[in-house]
Amino acid sequence: MEIYVLKISDIVEYKFNKLCSKIDKSKKLKIYKYINEKDRIRALIGEVLIRNIINKKLNLDNGCIEFEHNKYGKPHLKGHPYFNFNISHSEEYIVCAIDDKPIGIDIEAIKPVEYENIAKSFFSTSEYNYIHTAHGCIQLSRFYEVWTLKESYIKCCGEGLSIPLNSFCISIRENISVNSGNDRCIYTFRRFNIESGYKMAVCSLNEEITNDIIIIDQNRLINEYLSVM
Ligand SMILES: CC(C)(COP(=O)(O)OP(=O)(O)OC[C@H]1O[C@@H](n2cnc3c(N)ncnc32)[C@H](O)[C@@H]1OP(=O)(O)O)[C@@H](O)C(=O)NCCC(=O)NCCS
Repeated sequence: MEIYVLKISDIVEYKFNKLCSKIDKSKKLKIYKYINEKDRIRALIGEVLIRNIINKKLNLDNGCIEFEHNKYGKPHLKGHPYFNFNISHSEEYIVCAIDDKPIGIDIEAIKPVEYENIAKSFFSTSEYNYIHTAHGCIQLSRFYEVWTLKESYIKCCGEGLSIPLNSFCISIRENISVNSGNDRCIYTFRRFNIESGYKMAVCSLNEEITNDIIIIDQNRLINEYLSVM
């Protein structure tokens, strides 16, 4: 398992277009549809990052990298069932986890939201209580903690919001676990503090989740990608 973290920065137009010429047509179309510049960068750099990782780990040339998606949109590298990955992006960050079993990762920038109502409506009672019983100043942080853990689980399962948010419950004690009424699989969780103002969580079907993160520099990634791929 490896976990990668990248902080995004602006990209000059010619480099942006050059990178776009080296990814799938469908992904390129999706990227150009975004109106917001940051959305474009996040989607493009996420794609470049995973392609670069695949190139290094599996020694696959860019032209041989083909992604397929399950019916809920979770991408997978075609022909490589033991290479699993998941990407998440929020504001300034793109994060990516790779593993030999299904994995889910989520990062969220902490924003002032109506967490009380959201948690009451969509989270389980014990998750709501975990947030509600905390001191006022840490309730928002706890809300995002639960949010990213739940999202990492949903993303590990790969079924999006077809899994109702209150159909499973994340328990945060000494260890973090999930109660979903499905004990066929055992999920492992880990929270990461990469920067104040963000919450990040990983959910894995492996028993251990690495605590190490690999920091990727965007410019180095771009230059490497353009020279190799
Ligand atoms: C994709 C999904 C699973 C997560 O969306 P999100 O939080 O907006 O986005 P993230 O940045 O964390 O992840 C996006 C990436 O996940 C991957 N992804 C797409 N569908 C996925 C799925 N079904 N399962 C896992 N990963 C998926 C893709 O790589 C995608 O990157 P791309 O958009 O650049 O192609 C979304 O379909 C979803 O269901 N979101 C739920 C949002 C929500 O209300 N969560 C509440 C949690 S408490």
